[in-house]
Amino acid sequence: MVFPLWRVRPSHLYLRCSGIHARRCLSTPRSTLSPPTVNLLGAEYPTDTTTNVTSSISSKLGRNLHLQSAHPLGILRHLVESHFHDFTAFSQFSPLVTPAKNFDDLGFPLDHPGRSLTDSYYVNRDLMLRTHTSAHEVEVFAQGVRAWLLSADVYRRDEIDASHYPVFHQMEGARVFSGNANSMRDLEEENENLSAHLAQKNIVIEDVPHVSETNPPQAGHDPRHSELVARNLKLSLNSLILALFGGRVGASEANPLRVRWIEAYFPFTSPSFEVEVFFHGKWLEILGCGVVQQRTLISASVQDSISWAFGLGLERIAMILYSIPDIRLFWSQDPRFLTQFTPGQIHPFKPYSKYPPCHKDVAFWLPDSGLHENDFCDLVRDAAGDLVEDVKLIDKFTHPKTNRTSQCYRINYRSMDRSLTNEEANAIHASVESRLKSNFGVEIR
Ligand code: DAH
Repeated sequence: MVFPLWRVRPSHLYLRCSGIHARRCLSTPRSTLSPPTVNLLGAEYPTDTTTNVTSSISSKLGRNLHLQSAHPLGILRHLVESHFHDFTAFSQFSPLVTPAKNFDDLGFPLDHPGRSLTDSYYVNRDLMLRTHTSAHEVEVFAQGVRAWLLSADVYRRDEIDASHYPVFHQMEGARVFSGNANSMRDLEEENENLSAHLAQKNIVIEDVPHVSETNPPQAGHDPRHSELVARNLKLSLNSLILALFGGRVGASEANPLRVRWIEAYFPFTSPSFEVEVFFHGKWLEILGCGVVQQRTLISASVQDSISWAFGLGLERIAMILYSIPDIRLFWSQDPRFLTQFTPGQIHPFKPYSKYPPCHKDVAFWLPDSGLHENDFCDLVRDAAGDLVEDVKLIDKFTHPKTNRTSQCYRINYRSMDRSLTNEEANAIHASVESRLKSNFGVEIR
């Protein structure tokens, strides 16, 4: 299976995106005519040839899992807000944004793969579902708030497995500093205090330079200021990580919490970093961050300042903290899931049962226009809802004589809450096949 180069699996972040890996398939051919309008959050919006929001996605709008106080995502949001207690917290921004807000204002190049119809959900060419909380950076900075957090649902078209779901939740945070000498002196002192505090804790941090040739300060920044702000960002996030994970994920005297900082690239920060936490023998990426591109602050009319920002994936962290094995569980309305969580507390989730899976294969000849894997996955999600657990491409070949390409996908159906009958799975699978034919003109083999 080919994974997009700009998003190394299983990332939820716009990492390593230099803009040179634009996807070939920028539009999704649709043979079915979409209705003239689509209803989202109670309002009608005109559709056009770019519309690709499915009903399974629109049904998730307004669920606001991150606002439920006894839901793992709501509990985690609250923990982050309590840690950064003097930051102003926002959580009510609409998920409908313009592509300008989501991409242009943040300096995403025109050929960035995130903009494509195969990767993002468009209501029409002028409106989309936000793909990250950074989409609100300019408007929040423009309010003049110097330290803020923002939590929200975000939407991305993606493959299907236990850690990917087309709707997930992020938390953005930022802090603005005056660029004058006094403020930088205060920052230096704050950094020394934070650093002394962390030095006493049972945490091992693998670091990279705050700025370097490959992760440079911005042209308009005094490199010493850039370095101080990047250091403050790292210390602030290391403290947050310690507050969330310390003593919880098997860390002990002999086995401290391990955190690693890695140089990264985002269009809207420089220097940029990603952070990983060592958990159950693996490094798991939990957030992206950096020193905000001055362009963003200028668009927000914030003068003579320098800022850091971060964006973290709430599901990713909650899955680690609560040992939640499948991302679909966050959407479960089963009391056996929902009653396990208490505001302010984190203890491991007790799986109630794992019902048997039922896998079915579908093999087909690709139409001349091709079929992007994300289009296939969205079609399966729309037919199966949360009954689909995993989708894998298991075979692909091109016929030597006809030059036609055949693909075979294995779809794993399993309910989180009950046993799925074979008849039920057959009916869903038949619907997948018929949608494949009618929506994409494929020939089932
Ligand atoms: N918005 C980025 C993503 O979803 C994550 C991110 C990176 C947020 C750097 C930030 C930042 O605020 O400074 O991949």
